[in-house]
Amino acid sequence: MGSMRLGLAALAVLFGSITSHAAPTAEVLHFWTAGGEARAAQSLKSAFEARGGVWDDAPVAGGGGDAMAAVLRARVLAGVPPSVAQLKGQNIREWAEVGALEDLNDIAEQQDWDALLPELLKRSAQFEGEYVAVPLNIHRVDWIWANPKVLDQVGVLPPQTWEEFNEVADKLLAAGIIPLAHGGQPWQDVTLFEVVLLGIGGPDFYRQVYVDLDPEALQSETMIKVFDQMRKLSTYVDPSSPGREWNLATAMVMRGDAAMQIMGDWAKAEFLTAGLKPGEDFICVPSPSRGGYIINSDSFAMFTVDDPEQQAGQQLMASMLLDEDVQKEFNLLKGSIPARLGVNLDGFDECALKSNEDLVHNEARGTVVGSIAHEFVQSGAIRGAFLDVVTEHFNTDMSSQEAVRRLAETVMLAD
Ligand code: BGC
Repeated sequence: MGSMRLGLAALAVLFGSITSHAAPTAEVLHFWTAGGEARAAQSLKSAFEARGGVWDDAPVAGGGGDAMAAVLRARVLAGVPPSVAQLKGQNIREWAEVGALEDLNDIAEQQDWDALLPELLKRSAQFEGEYVAVPLNIHRVDWIWANPKVLDQVGVLPPQTWEEFNEVADKLLAAGIIPLAHGGQPWQDVTLFEVVLLGIGGPDFYRQVYVDLDPEALQSETMIKVFDQMRKLSTYVDPSSPGREWNLATAMVMRGDAAMQIMGDWAKAEFLTAGLKPGEDFICVPSPSRGGYIINSDSFAMFTVDDPEQQAGQQLMASMLLDEDVQKEFNLLKGSIPARLGVNLDGFDECALKSNEDLVHNEARGTVVGSIAHEFVQSGAIRGAFLDVVTEHFNTDMSSQEAVRRLAETVMLAD
């Protein structure tokens, strides 16, 4: 017994010496697998390694992150969560509610995150007053990415209104060009939908529908117009669109196989990765809207784990992500603008500067609105209701009236 105790003590010393030399490690579950996304993730990995961390990469392919979300759920249920996961808005709240996330208050206090983060992002980074995630960026959703040479071919400029959009698209169709590059996946369909919702309804109406889930707004004439425009868009998309990943749609615009894509500014990272220049090889214009800015933001959250090396990795990661240089390099590559306030934007391109300028302007007017496709507002259940109805409408000959009726019904059931 005595020698066994000694043996255990010796083992503990040995183990202690191993762990004390072990590097802080983070298993990072994310869905950044497209070219531009992977470059941006790599910049975080390099910064983590430069600080002595070991980045154990756990990517799950699938734009928008729905595939990753399923993997994450399965892993948490099986009791083997990753130490770090890429999460967005409401998803953070849902994981915090079930007690799966570490609170990051100590680091937040040391680094004064209260002063570093804009109010807009604090709401999703905190749960019941505790910091439970580190915001990485601000992505704008309501953009059109266009190939200027293709627009020139039919002598048109990027559209400013939805009527103009339809006129431009009709001309392109008549010239045998695919007007709209699109990937037929539910999150991409709802990305189009919310852009149209903002454009046709304006920011107040958008909020009534998307935030308040107001039954009157949901069943209004304006919603019929939104679905009418969605029907139009469905005729501007090529027949091979179903299931296509968003970055392949971006590549169609790059190659000139299609004229435009409506997508958040992660698409810009694809153009930049291909060596293309904004304003020359591709152009970015806010999608037709009557004012407003649809926001989406990525964060890293830390899941509760037992392993001390992984815990050390979580601390190192959380303390690194709002560093000014880390923010700058990551966002230059990601297509977004920094989450941290006051980062110098030298070197950011015209699309990022426009995003920043419009964000400031819309924030002052109270017209920054949250994305459902990208989980900034609403629960997973409500998001699911929008995904189901919008996708079914887009891919069948369902009338706008029927879509409005079903959406109102499905949303109310999910609420
Ligand atoms: C995420 C982006 C990502 C995009 C496509 C969005 O929901 O916020 O970081 O690049 O999906 O995968």
